[in-house]
Amino acid sequence: MIQKSFQGVGEIPKDIEKLFSPRGQFREFLMMYQSAVKEVKTKFEILNDDLSVTYNRNPIEAIKSRIKTPESIISKMQRKGLDINMNSLMYYIEDVAGIRVICSFIDDIYEVANMLVSQDDIKLLSVKDYIKNPKPNGYRSYHMIVEVPVFFANHRQNMKVEVQLRTIAMDFWASLEHKMKYKKDIKGSDEIVKELKRCADNIAELDKRMQDINEGIQNLEK
Ligand code: GTP
Ligand code: MG
Repeated sequence: MIQKSFQGVGEIPKDIEKLFSPRGQFREFLMMYQSAVKEVKTKFEILNDDLSVTYNRNPIEAIKSRIKTPESIISKMQRKGLDINMNSLMYYIEDVAGIRVICSFIDDIYEVANMLVSQDDIKLLSVKDYIKNPKPNGYRSYHMIVEVPVFFANHRQNMKVEVQLRTIAMDFWASLEHKMKYKKDIKGSDEIVKELKRCADNIAELDKRMQDINEGIQNLEK
C-alpha cells in the first residue's frame, strides 16, 4: 500500500526539531536514513531469495532494522561534543540507520557480508569483526559501516548504514546482555556478568559445532 504522506519517522520532540534549521530539516534527514535502511534491507532480501532459488539455501534467518531515535541521536552528538547540525550528524554519526542480519551459521555471515560489499553501488567504510576478536564481555558479531547511494526526488545522496551480522545464538545472547547494560552498578551483578561471559563462550563453541554438523550433512548430499 502506498502511503499518502511519509509517516515512517514518527513524532519528533519539538525541542529537538528546533535544534536544526531550516525547520523540517531533521524530519527530512530521518526520512533519508529510513530510505537508506530500505535499500540495504532489500539487498539482503534479494540475496536470500536468490540463494534460496538457485542453491536451495536460506542463509538469512531474519532481518531487523531500526532508525535511531531523535533523543538518542542528540545525546550521542552531545556525548561526542559535536555541534548540533546536519553536517556533523551525517559525517560523525554512523549508526542512525541500522540493519541487523541474523544467520544460522557463522560461514553464512561472512558470505552474505561479502556478497553485499561486492555490489558496485556499496562502499565499505569500516569493519569491526567481533567474531574473530570478541569483546571482553563475550560479545560477538560482525559489524560494517557501508555507504549506499539513495535517489530522492531532486538529488542523490550517499547514506551511511550500520550493518550487524550475527548468528541466532549470538543474537539471543546480545539481547540478554543488553539488559545488563543498565544494571552494572547493582549488587550481585558481577556474578551475572561472569555467567554471561561463560555463556558467550559456550555459544561460540555451539555455533562452531552446528556449522561442522551442517558441513557434514552437505557432504552426505554430494
Ligand atoms: P557506539 O558508539 O555504541 O555505537 O559504539 P561504536 O561506535 O564503538 O560501535 P560498535 O561497533 O562497538 O557497537 C555498535 C553497536 O553494536 C552497539 O550500538 C550495539 O548495538 C552493538 N554492541 C556493541 N557492543 C555490544 C555489547 O557488548 N553488547 C551488546 N548487547 N551489544 C553490543
Ligand atoms: Mg551504536
